[in-house]
Amino acid sequence: MALQLGDIAPDFEAETTQGKIKFHDWLGSSWGVLFSHPKNYTPVCTTELGYTAKLKPQFDRRNVKAIGLSVDKLVDHEGWSKDIEETQGAALNFPLIADPDKKVANLYGMIHPNASDTMTVRSVFVIDPNKKIRLTLTYPASTGRNFDEILRVIDSLQLTDRHKVATPVNWKHGEDVIIVPSLKDEDAKKLFPQGWKTLKPYLRVVAQPKG
Ligand code: BEZ
Repeated sequence: MALQLGDIAPDFEAETTQGKIKFHDWLGSSWGVLFSHPKNYTPVCTTELGYTAKLKPQFDRRNVKAIGLSVDKLVDHEGWSKDIEETQGAALNFPLIADPDKKVANLYGMIHPNASDTMTVRSVFVIDPNKKIRLTLTYPASTGRNFDEILRVIDSLQLTDRHKVATPVNWKHGEDVIIVPSLKDEDAKKLFPQGWKTLKPYLRVVAQPKG
């Protein structure tokens, strides 16, 4: 069965551009973004990896480690990383897993045989510090992902883990949020003493809590 939200992200050992890792140990107490790209030396993947490298300060601020994967060999990752730096203006600053025997790709269901039985699809797994899978995304090879969206979801997950709120459509950090329906008004008064706007009894809008 495919990995689902709330499952523990499977542990594995793998060769990466930053040495051999044991995945759970490498994650430590950080959040993780594990993402597959279909193939080295391809244009869309080149742009995705360059952009992810540029986002490193944003990942660091959120205590997130990014790690890429393809079913190519380590030596190909090393050669291709020079092209990424040259064309995208950012050198790889996170590890890329070399998975030529598809061990990790199969563990995470990143090969969709009816799309391609040789390449991974564009999978994303956001993993929390308890090693639980909190987000999965699957994109086709021809469509580059929106890594700003991945950061946006992490902002939502980290906020909603800390406070009894949920985030509405297209929410971005700093915008109003929604009080979770399970919280009764009398308890909400203690948590949100500044008050909120009730549009419906189940739709209570409040300023994003600090911290
Ligand atoms: C790309 O990254 O450009 C790509 C990879 C595999 C298939 C199609 C496009």
